[in-house]
Amino acid sequence: MLPDSGSSPPMPTEQDRLKRAAAARALDYVTDGMKLGLGTGSTAEAFIDLLGPRVRGGLKLLCVPTSERTTTYARKLGLSLGNLDDLAPLDLTVDGADEADRELTLIKGAGGALLREKIVARASKRMVVIADESKLVARLGKFTLPVEVLEFGHKTTARHLSEAFTSLGYSNIPITLRQREGAIFKSDSGNVIYDCAMGAITSAAKLAAAISAIPGAVEHGLFIGIATTLLIAHPGEVEVIAGEPAAGQARA
Ligand code: A5P
Repeated sequence: MLPDSGSSPPMPTEQDRLKRAAAARALDYVTDGMKLGLGTGSTAEAFIDLLGPRVRGGLKLLCVPTSERTTTYARKLGLSLGNLDDLAPLDLTVDGADEADRELTLIKGAGGALLREKIVARASKRMVVIADESKLVARLGKFTLPVEVLEFGHKTTARHLSEAFTSLGYSNIPITLRQREGAIFKSDSGNVIYDCAMGAITSAAKLAAAISAIPGAVEHGLFIGIATTLLIAHPGEVEVIAGEPAAGQARA
């Protein structure tokens, strides 16, 4: 974490320690001269914390942040930042997740950055996901699925989401417009987010396709065939779960 100007930082919890262990392991995937995507969230920030001293020690990286929050964080630590269109394809993106299964399918977006996170990860040759063990699940869906929706007509789009869920057999799914501090939450791209309490997701691919077919649904938090490695921190060890990218993805 960045140094605070006033009071001393809170004691790290066991979950914080696990996040840091996963973040530390991700350093093994970083090499000098890389073009690196930087994820969003507390685990991604633990990784950025570790990059700072290495960059000051001479490691050369050009980084593309996935959110305004990460931009601010990485800049304060002295990382060199660039534009995705100037740097793509990136060598690697390191990011957190809200849920991950052993097929390397993810739910992301609790931090509201899922759209840029997906664009940056998809433009990367590899995506290493770092998480504490609480994020590893047998079946996705306990965590709400965020769907980023264009503000124009968003209530209509939410109705269409509900209809699509019903047609796939997910009935009476609570769909909640995300709020922050009493106001409607807006993503870095100015869109709203609906959090969908799916329960057990039986087919992430079918659900993803159904959401993507709805006009106004800009992007959803299911990452399928994008992550190439999961680093899951358990007490005493970091588990490495490696997979192959989906066919058609440019992963050199
Ligand atoms: C940001 O939009 C999310 O996708 C985060 O990557 C995810 O919520 C993980 O965040 P934490 O590392 O803070 O749990």
